[in-house]
Amino acid sequence: MKIYRTADYNEMSRKAANIIASQVILKPDCVLGLATGSTPIGTYENLVEKYKAGDLDFSEVNTVNLDEYKGLPRTNDQSYYYFMHENLFDKVNIDPEKTNLPDGMKPDSEAECARYEELIQSLGGVDLQLLGLGHNGHIGFNEPAKAFDKETHCVDLQERTIEANKRFFASADEVPRQAYTMGIKTIMQARKILVVVSGEDKADIVAKAFFGPVTPDVPASILQMHPDVTVVADAAALAKVPQSKTL
Ligand code: GLP
Repeated sequence: MKIYRTADYNEMSRKAANIIASQVILKPDCVLGLATGSTPIGTYENLVEKYKAGDLDFSEVNTVNLDEYKGLPRTNDQSYYYFMHENLFDKVNIDPEKTNLPDGMKPDSEAECARYEELIQSLGGVDLQLLGLGHNGHIGFNEPAKAFDKETHCVDLQERTIEANKRFFASADEVPRQAYTMGIKTIMQARKILVVVSGEDKADIVAKAFFGPVTPDVPASILQMHPDVTVVADAAALAKVPQSKTL
C-alpha cells in the first residue's frame, strides 16, 4: 500500500485526478469504478478541468459506481446517479451508455444486485476503483459487520452513516435506510484501488483501517490485503500516521 500525504484537500484532489487521468491515458477504454460522498468532489473537478484543457478523452471510458440508495429516484438530487451526472458525467465527453450505477428503484434487491455484479464481470472487471472512507471504516456502503460481505448486495445503513449523510437531506428521516452496494469481494477484484481521504475527523479511522488488524469490523482494513492500493490523504487525515509510513 502506497500512502501519499498531501498538504490539503486541494492537493489531494489534484493528485487523485492525476492518477485517474494516467489510467485513462494509458488505457482509453478502461473501466473506472467511481465513488460518491464529499471527498471525491474535488477529484472530479480536476478531471473536468483536464478534459476542458483538452488533456483527457472520456469517450471510450466505461464506469461502474460503487453504490446507490435504494428507493431514491434518479431525479432526486441526493441519488448517486444525480451526483455523478452533476459532478462528472454531464461535464465531460463520456458516453452516458457507458456509465453504470445500481438502479435504486428496482425493488427486487437480489435481481438488481445480481444484474450489477454480472455487468461488472461482462465489462472485464474494474481497472481502477476510486474509494472514499466512511467514519466507521465503510467502503461503498459495506458497513462494519461480522464477516466481509462479498458481492453486490442490499445493505441496511447504520445509524452513524445515516447521521453522517443527513447533512445532504432536509432531515435524517429522509435519508434512505437501505442501499445497493458492490461487496468487498467486488471491490477487492479491482486491479488497482485509489482511496481519497481528507480531514481530521477521519484521522482515527485512517490509522485503524490501514495500520490496525484486518477485520470486518473495519471494512476498509481488507484493503491491506490488496496488491495495488494507493491512498491519497491530506495531512489532517494522516495526523495519526507516522511521517515515515507515508510518501
Ligand atoms: C457515503 C458513501 C461512501 C463514501 C462515504 C464517505 O456513505 N457511500 O462511498 O466514501 O459516504 O463520505 P465523505 O467523503 O462525504 O466523508
